[in-house]
Amino acid sequence: MNRRGTPAVSTRRTGSVLVVTIDNPPVNALSRDVREGLMHALDDLAGDATLSGMVIAAAGRVFSAGADIREFDAPMQPPFLGDVVARLDASTKPVVASIQGKALGGGLELALACQGRVASKHARLGLPEVKLGLLPGSGGIVRLPRLGGLELALSMIGEGREIGAAEAEKGGIVDRIAAGDPAEDAVKLATEMAASKTAIRRARDLPFPPFPEADQDAARKTLAKKLPGRDAAQKAVDLLAMASRTPFDDAARLEHQACRELVGSPQSRALRYLFAAERAAAKVADGDDMPPTPSKAGVAGTGVMGRGIAMALLDAGLDVVLTGRSAASIETARHTIEKAYASSVERGRIDRTVADERLSRLTFSDQIDAFSQCDIVIETISEDLGAKCELIAAIDRTVGEEAIIATNTSFLDIETLARASTRPQNFAGLHFFNPANIMKLVEIVRAGRTAPQTVAALAALSAKLGKVSVTVGPSEGFVANRMLSKRTREALFLLQEGATPAQIDRVLTEFGFPVGPFTLADMAGLDVIAATRAARLSSMSERERGADIAERLVAAGRLGRKSGAGYYAYDENGKRRDAPEVADILDAHRRERGMNVRDIADEEVRERLLFALVNEGARLVDEGVAARMSDIDVVWTRGFGFPAHLGGPMFWASEIGTPELLQRLDHYAAMVGADFFAPSPLIAEAASRQARLV
Ligand code: COA
Repeated sequence: MNRRGTPAVSTRRTGSVLVVTIDNPPVNALSRDVREGLMHALDDLAGDATLSGMVIAAAGRVFSAGADIREFDAPMQPPFLGDVVARLDASTKPVVASIQGKALGGGLELALACQGRVASKHARLGLPEVKLGLLPGSGGIVRLPRLGGLELALSMIGEGREIGAAEAEKGGIVDRIAAGDPAEDAVKLATEMAASKTAIRRARDLPFPPFPEADQDAARKTLAKKLPGRDAAQKAVDLLAMASRTPFDDAARLEHQACRELVGSPQSRALRYLFAAERAAAKVADGDDMPPTPSKAGVAGTGVMGRGIAMALLDAGLDVVLTGRSAASIETARHTIEKAYASSVERGRIDRTVADERLSRLTFSDQIDAFSQCDIVIETISEDLGAKCELIAAIDRTVGEEAIIATNTSFLDIETLARASTRPQNFAGLHFFNPANIMKLVEIVRAGRTAPQTVAALAALSAKLGKVSVTVGPSEGFVANRMLSKRTREALFLLQEGATPAQIDRVLTEFGFPVGPFTLADMAGLDVIAATRAARLSSMSERERGADIAERLVAAGRLGRKSGAGYYAYDENGKRRDAPEVADILDAHRRERGMNVRDIADEEVRERLLFALVNEGARLVDEGVAARMSDIDVVWTRGFGFPAHLGGPMFWASEIGTPELLQRLDHYAAMVGADFFAPSPLIAEAASRQARLV
């Protein structure tokens, strides 16, 4: 029985075909009772001479999300999915899968072992195991290339790419696309197959396509670029190569063995932890009086963030009103957004008709009253407290009583902003990351009087935008930027003490970040960074205030990439190289500040940058700004590219061990200063129990 008290697998007869329905909400994971139910159905099929074939269908919107992730941490209970798959393969009567929604992982492997597959138009097929540090272990590797070829198999298994029904049909993975209920067509196909035995086609009987070594090398390189550092992606190539030269049953056994080994790997543990962490972060208490998810949104401000947020809202199907201060700023925004959609069309990401439809839902105005019909308005103007308060008050006067007003500020005081409106219960921060239409993270910032319904509505909106949301409390920089500021601080201190921008960037990219802090600073613009520093000076320590390196670079005309020079120099193709002028500026700065310059080992660079983050993360939990340690890991993996296969800063530090972490923090507190590295009480407490942080 499943949670709803109905059997996880039910059967009925349609003519001489046994229709088996998996019903294991919410996503039809292949838990033990589902596997058992399928085995019983296969017994019935084999034992009942009046049955000529079988259809495997599923209830709900997902065909099956595959193996039950919750079962991974305990020894797997029989019957195993491999047993079900082997029985399907051996069936002398045809079995057809009826795929009405997503067939993922083991769900797709089940379907691949059937003798036929019918999909609905909206069905999607995928083997996303690699995203959890795993690989298919029940025939995905030995069957998919035989049906769909190696190129498709490499992208689906190695990258976890999901495909739609049309591509699956074209690739030979599904036999038919149903116009209506796929189960009806599946019954027809099973009946046809039973009538003409020759129509039965088993994936195992097809030849495995050749996979020469040169293609294997090319695949390894492609996957190393697309999923850097991911062991399972590289292992996918090894297993496909093995399957290409090994008899079917032996290859299936080796595939299963490799998958079981990956379940215990540190990368898979980290990625599975993040899967659960993201879902836990997005869950917020919702009541009966939840406002409907907004359908018409306003965005105030035509800067980079305003444009990105407007596009994210358009992409999710909302009507959007974008306001700017002047006709010129509006024109620039219109042009930039149109260009961004045109580029997506050129790259084949979306059809022209889709782009046109999205643009048709966007209107521009230079008047705040244009927001009068909006369910939510997000302000995104520059970080000037007075200007933001004025704007919020104006929006408050215009929109309906129930509308939500949100601010995209990254560090201003959320309580002051909330007080600028007459609806503090309907006011919150909604902090996006640049580029807002691409980056997956959103921080929902609760002010003191923000109603739970408002938080729930913003979480629902974030989910609609395809974002991962984390709800945080008020604090300068919230979770993401407050932690980032500690890493930035340490990066500047390390520069002062003798490290170079290139060394620091390299240490972090070798660790797995996509870019280092100084490359990032050059992209953001050093003038912007200097302005942010100016706004935050009063909350900085004396040493941080004195670390005015960005200001010196700006004074020397080095604004970052946009001026062709910043921490680095850039040639006309944008290629980066070290700049001797920067070394001179740094030397002058160090002399003036009386710094003792030394060679700094990479290990010290890595530890100071990352332990500063971890320590601040623990403080945020201690202060209640973050609700849980795992929220911090979601913020860092989704917002700043912390390598997901290391689980995020708190998981990574837990793997090192809290006693070791505490000892290193004490060491740096003595060396750099207690103001910067005094261990958070939560870390000291966890270390005393030899406990993990997460
Ligand atoms: N096993 C067990 N539980 C699963 C699961 C799985 N394979 N896939 C999803 N769930 C759970 C989620 O944890 C969540 O549980 P919760 O409500 O208790 O938090 C619930 O199902 C809904 O999942 P969610 O991701 O929030 O819903 P969605 O509609 O956005 O997405 C899927 C549905 C199936 C697309 C998505 O959950 C998914 O991609 N799952 C993983 C598939 C996978 O990797 N399979 C291979 C496993 S080796």
